[in-house]
Amino acid sequence: MRSKLAAGNWKMNGTQEALSELAAMADAAKGAAEVLICPPATLLASAAGRDANIAIGGQDCHANASGAHTGDISAPMLADAGATHVILGHSERRQDHEESDALVREKTAAAWQAGLTVVLCLGESLEQRENGETLDVIAAQLNKSTPDGATGETLVIAYEPIWAIGTGKIPTTEQIGEVHDFLRAELNTRFGAEIGNAIRLLYGGSVKPGNAAEIFAVPNVDGALVGGASLKAADFTPIIEALNASG
Ligand code: PGA
Repeated sequence: MRSKLAAGNWKMNGTQEALSELAAMADAAKGAAEVLICPPATLLASAAGRDANIAIGGQDCHANASGAHTGDISAPMLADAGATHVILGHSERRQDHEESDALVREKTAAAWQAGLTVVLCLGESLEQRENGETLDVIAAQLNKSTPDGATGETLVIAYEPIWAIGTGKIPTTEQIGEVHDFLRAELNTRFGAEIGNAIRLLYGGSVKPGNAAEIFAVPNVDGALVGGASLKAADFTPIIEALNASG
């Protein structure tokens, strides 16, 4: 059975005082679901180790381990700061920094080298969905962004339709289910059933306390990657609890 994962992506939000939210999430984090918070890099070291049940992750890493790359952070540096996970290929990185699938693949390999679990994001734009290209786009992103050798411990996939991120719009549960079933089949084909069935599939995009239970009831949804609603324990706690309560 795959363990469930509630992952929070704080994006470019939060200074030291935001870390008090971790303590407020601690009780919910004792449940069956794993809990991961990805704060901005400036908070990683102080967030790590605050609560044994809350794992800490980065939001990006460089493909190289070190070197002349001003402003960048490498995977070994994330691990050194106490991170166990890293989000890669988020659509905001793909858009703001023109990250290609090939670069995301290189970063994933670098993160694995440093012992990090990668939460790899993919998803279609509204135009691609309206043109009926969703599954093709997702298959291409999955296959081009993921190196060989993935396992259930080293890779988590987050399906995040770009049009659902930060918009309050979410796909229907049928649409989420279609993509997640498709991703499961693609992973089984690529990595074999044992590994393909062990890789967690998260849904991301406008997950809120009010819609979490319905999303978690969809087959092949193993948790969520949550942006805005992960910033405050008052919002994230009910999402973790809904995941703890899901079958
Ligand atoms: P959102 O962001 O929950 O604020 O829509 C999700 C994400 O970008 O991971």
